[in-house]
Amino acid sequence: MEKQNIGTQGFTLPMPQSILGTQYEGKPNYMALGWVTRVNFKPQLIGISVSKGHASNKAIRETNQFSINFPSVDMVEITDYIGLVSGKRTDKSGLFETYYGELNKAPMIKECPLAIECKLHEAVELPTNTFFIGEIVGTWCEERFITESNPDIEKIKPFVLTMPDNRFWSIGECVGHAWKDGKALKQK
Ligand SMILES: Cc1cc2nc3c(=O)[nH]c(=O)nc-3n(C[C@H](O)[C@H](O)[C@H](O)COP(=O)(O)O)c2cc1C
Repeated sequence: MEKQNIGTQGFTLPMPQSILGTQYEGKPNYMALGWVTRVNFKPQLIGISVSKGHASNKAIRETNQFSINFPSVDMVEITDYIGLVSGKRTDKSGLFETYYGELNKAPMIKECPLAIECKLHEAVELPTNTFFIGEIVGTWCEERFITESNPDIEKIKPFVLTMPDNRFWSIGECVGHAWKDGKALKQK
């Protein structure tokens, strides 16, 4: 079958939909965040891409701290909303119940089953965005979302984002085990 070049925006790879938490002008501020990925093993570093125009970008520069919160499927509407309005004009601090962990300027969301707090490791300036690399200082979860010491996807019920079709999706079934299922081929 012949391949077509569908342009430079044609990616529909799912991204974990998250919510970025920062302290903006003395108050918690939250924005929808799709561009997030692990980037280093030791120390544990996580990268997020945040547009230079966002209040959240300014907040991270000023505080050197941020949190990444993972909402459940029942939080789709509110997650999208905080991606539509800026903390520059709208106070988003009261939309969630806030808590803090090890850091004092990385507000986290009680309603989200999982949250990671980070201190800024490095900021990489790109043409429109800043790629903030954070060192994880704490991961917060409740017992009811954990199975055998690990956050459990089936209990957390996170959702993913695809772009450029801009749709949210729930997670499907487990189809295999990493670092294990390939072993049979390795031994041949
Ligand atoms: C589903 C969704 C995902 C988003 N992902 C990102 C992202 O990864 N990076 C980014 O800079 N903006 C992203 N945005 C846009 C910001 O969330 C949005 O501009 C927000 O209003 C910025 O808020 P702030 O000015 O209070 O920081 C996303 C928006 C939506 C709706």
